[in-house]
Amino acid sequence: MEKMIHIPVLFHEAMEHMAPKEGKIIIDATLGRAGHARGFLDREAAVIGFDQDLEAINSVKETFGLVQIHDNPLIYKNNNFTVVHDNFKNLAPALDLLGIKAVQGVFFDLGVSSPQFDDSERGFSYRFDTELDMRMDQTQELSAWDIVNSYDVETLSKIIREYGEERFARRIAASIVRNRPVDTTGQLTEIIKQAMPKKAREDQHPAKRTFQALRIAVNDELGALEKGLNSALEVLDTGGRLGVISFHSLEDRLVKNFFKAQEDPCICPRDLPICACGKTPKLQIITKRPIQPSSEEIKLNRRSRSARMRIAERITTREVGEW
Ligand SMILES: C[S@@+](CC[C@H](N)C(=O)[O-])C[C@H]1O[C@@H](n2cnc3c(N)ncnc32)[C@H](O)[C@@H]1O
Repeated sequence: MEKMIHIPVLFHEAMEHMAPKEGKIIIDATLGRAGHARGFLDREAAVIGFDQDLEAINSVKETFGLVQIHDNPLIYKNNNFTVVHDNFKNLAPALDLLGIKAVQGVFFDLGVSSPQFDDSERGFSYRFDTELDMRMDQTQELSAWDIVNSYDVETLSKIIREYGEERFARRIAASIVRNRPVDTTGQLTEIIKQAMPKKAREDQHPAKRTFQALRIAVNDELGALEKGLNSALEVLDTGGRLGVISFHSLEDRLVKNFFKAQEDPCICPRDLPICACGKTPKLQIITKRPIQPSSEEIKLNRRSRSARMRIAERITTREVGEW
């Protein structure tokens, strides 16, 4: 199969903040085509990469000449590079399997890769007319077809409004339900166009927000991210870095709130002489504002334009009773 390219986003900034070096184990929770992972490996770190997409795993396996060491989940390895075919929400049990107790970095570069987006058959893009799929994990049952053809109008409308931040969610959902069965991305795109007022179709592709919403729902992207971040905290060593690149405001908000809640989790009234709630900080935020790509990077790679990277460091959990 033709090898498709993915240009890693905020590459230099990620290398600087994740600080890979010999003796460190870094988890690349979203391996893709191993753009960032290669950078970590080149700097002598050991890397454990996760991806739920078997095509990504197979492509990396070939490129790096990895050999299978485990079935279910599939795990491949060569020297200091290990890759796991699994959702990053399961990273703690997978590390258990590998006998690894702690790591010194966990890195997420969220969303879909260019090879997924540019594959005319996977249904992620309204640019191609194909089956309504959108599954990142090809072994998962739920697809965009199921959601579009079986969810009631209320649920569909909620998904499109919340995950797509689409003003015309209700009209689009009602039109989808009226026009069932909807079998292809082309049909869906046409239904969305017809459901939106003409003026609203002008500033960006009318199907962009609805497609984003369906993709997030199919892959439970926000649920997986929340679980993945919590698992990352469990396995990060003191001083270890947690880095997350997100591509839309819903993800970025979730990451920002997670970092804040882990930096200042105490819920005791501030006039108490000592903390009694027992909720101790686990992270220190390193990037007060998210790091964004430079104009040069955006010129070279337009898909980087919405990227935001946030970094936090795992700190020693203080004892209950200390402020
Ligand atoms: C933006 S790409 C990462 C690209 C990679 N950093 C590179 O430079 O090649 C995101 C990748 O993460 C994977 N992914 C997204 N959500 C995931 C999840 N919950 N668990 C595992 N992999 C996930 C996707 O399948 C995709 O391959």
